[in-house]
Amino acid sequence: MKKLGVNIDHIATLRQARRGRFPDPVFAAGICEIAGCDSIVCHLREDRRHIQDRDVYALKETVRRLNLEMAVNEEIVKIALNVCPAQVTLVPEKREELTTEGGLDVSGNANRIAQVIDRFHEKGITVSLFIEPDHRQIEASKIAGADAIEIHTGKFAELFEKHEETMWYQEYERIAKSTEYAMSTGLKVHAGHGLDYRNIHPILSIPRIEELNIGYSIICKAVFVGLHSAVKEMVSLLRQAGNQPE
Ligand code: PXP
Repeated sequence: MKKLGVNIDHIATLRQARRGRFPDPVFAAGICEIAGCDSIVCHLREDRRHIQDRDVYALKETVRRLNLEMAVNEEIVKIALNVCPAQVTLVPEKREELTTEGGLDVSGNANRIAQVIDRFHEKGITVSLFIEPDHRQIEASKIAGADAIEIHTGKFAELFEKHEETMWYQEYERIAKSTEYAMSTGLKVHAGHGLDYRNIHPILSIPRIEELNIGYSIICKAVFVGLHSAVKEMVSLLRQAGNQPE
């Protein structure tokens, strides 16, 4: 069975909108675990736009399995080595982007990435590299010493959304072939980015993908699954107050 990692960054995005304490990503992580997910994913970005350092430390203390997404940036690498999550996923990061765009260029930064992987391995931390479904990047990931790759499904998701059937199918095939190739080199295969309740079906049909990491669509769904009862509870408080004698 495929494993599900739930990315809780956008719980923190909502909290940071008021710079307050709620909603708390640690509390959200507990709910995700009770609901059956296999790991909790969060991305400590250089600009700290959502997840904060203390969230990462608190999550490490509370969740069963933490997968920390991060750029190959010395400040963040030091924090990750200190926190010691079960897994790190190395991603590219640009300050101006809305979300992670494109995969990591492992072949173009082979030495730097290999050195960082060694430092994580010394601490017993599993390393996954977030890359495009591309043979050159898969080969470079294997040579750099990664344990796993996470295939970027963003392009597939975008084409699926636009109903570009031939095009999304081509991208799906690229993902399926890359999965086979990566497996043949001994790498584990994860996938994620832009996956939702509809486009997940083709991806689920690729048997060798072990782990799917999903955030945005789950948090969006949670808003609508929960909004009705949240409003009902407030209405009921108002009604109770209205029924009280002056
Ligand atoms: N995997 C990686 C490496 C990511 O950077 C992200 C986005 O933070 C995700 C998965 C989850 O993507 P989404 O929020 O679109 O489901």
